[in-house]
Amino acid sequence: MIEINKKNILVLNGPNLNMLGKREPDLYGSDTLGDIDKNLTSQALTMNYHIDFRQSNSEGDLIGWIQDSRDSCDAIIINAGAYTHTSIGILDALRLIKQPIIEVHLSNIFKREDFRHHSYISPVAHGVICGFGSHSYILALQSVHNILSK
Ligand code: DQA
Repeated sequence: MIEINKKNILVLNGPNLNMLGKREPDLYGSDTLGDIDKNLTSQALTMNYHIDFRQSNSEGDLIGWIQDSRDSCDAIIINAGAYTHTSIGILDALRLIKQPIIEVHLSNIFKREDFRHHSYISPVAHGVICGFGSHSYILALQSVHNILSK
């Protein structure tokens, strides 16, 4: 849903992020995706932003949501999960977006396997935040606020 009086931030989450809380908690922490949505949304409210928080395991859904948001969102925060490292389709969709894009990851992808060191999202991202667990999303929101306030 789009809110007219507030800036709209689309927050996209890719595959397996719906399993947060259960999924490798040593790596990703114990917060569920629902917890992250709740914390981010309440933080965003104090800044007068509307958060549209979505998750899909399907690359096509993520691409469709990016395409649909190109005229309606003020910024995109994206954790594309494993598609970060594989998806030229998501990269091409993000190239349609003129608004700021912030790439986030819960884990520090540079401390992990080599195949996680490359991101197809980073070349179109304003910046990348990784390694702070669920707090990465809050840092991304603060970065969006900083960019949009300029
Ligand atoms: C992740 C890192 C990716 O490498 C991984 O495939 C994920 C989660 C993160 O948030 O740390 O699914 O994007």
